[in-house]
Amino acid sequence: MPPEDLKRRAAAHALTYVTDGMRLGLGTGSTARHFVELLAEKVRDGLTILGVPTSQQTLEQAVSLGVPIATLDEAGELDLCVDGADEIGPGLALVKGGGGALLREKIVARAAREMVVIADASKKVDVLGRFPLPIEVVDFGVVSIERHVSEAVRAAGCEGPVTVRRDRDGHPFVTDQGHLILDAHLGRIPDPARLARALEEVPGVVEHGLFLGLARRAVLAGPDGVIVLE
Ligand code: 5RP
Repeated sequence: MPPEDLKRRAAAHALTYVTDGMRLGLGTGSTARHFVELLAEKVRDGLTILGVPTSQQTLEQAVSLGVPIATLDEAGELDLCVDGADEIGPGLALVKGGGGALLREKIVARAAREMVVIADASKKVDVLGRFPLPIEVVDFGVVSIERHVSEAVRAAGCEGPVTVRRDRDGHPFVTDQGHLILDAHLGRIPDPARLARALEEVPGVVEHGLFLGLARRAVLAGPDGVIVLE
C-alpha cells in the first residue's frame, strides 16, 4: 500500500478519538495534513471543534478547508493534539521536527490533555536517532551554538555531525518563530533523556525534537492494518 494511503489510514483512525466540542491541536507534516483534511469533512458534516494549528502551513490548510481555528491562548487548555512524528521509539519517545515546526508542536502538545501520534508503521524504531534530530536555535552566534551542541551531544554518549538546516536555495531554513534548525546526525540515541537534558543546558537552544513523555498513544498504519500503541 502506498505510504500516503497508510498515513491517511492512521489519520482516519485518530479521528475516532475526536468528539463534538473538542479543542484540538493540529500537527504539521504530511500525515497531519491528512488528518486536517478528514477533520474538515467532519466539520462540513456538522462536527463542532476548535483547532489550534502548530505551524503557518497547517494554519493555511485549516483556513482554506473551513476548519475553525484559534490561537493557543484563545483556546486555552486543549482536549487532544494529533500530530505526526519522524520516529517513534520505546515508551512512545518521539523524534519530531522534520518539518521544522517542533517548537510550536511541543508547546501545543504540552497544552493538550492527550497527544496522539499518527504515522505509517515504518516510523516505529527500536532505538531513536536514525532520523537526524532537529534542534531549534536562535540565529545569534549560531557557529558557537553549533559547537556547544556538538559537545553536548558527545557528552550524552552520542556521535555524529551537527549541521545547519538549509532550504532548497541553500539559505538557512528559518522556522515560523524566526529561529534556525540544527540537525544532529547521530545514527542512534542510546539515552534520549540524557541527550535532552544536555541540549537544554546549551545557551541558544530554544527547543529540541525529542518529545519524551508527551505522547499518550501512537496510531500506526501498516499493510496489515492499524495498531495502537499506548
Ligand atoms: C514537523 C513534524 C512532523 O510531524 C514530522 O516531520 C512527520 O512528518 P510526516 O508526517 O510528513 O512524515 O515533526 O515538524
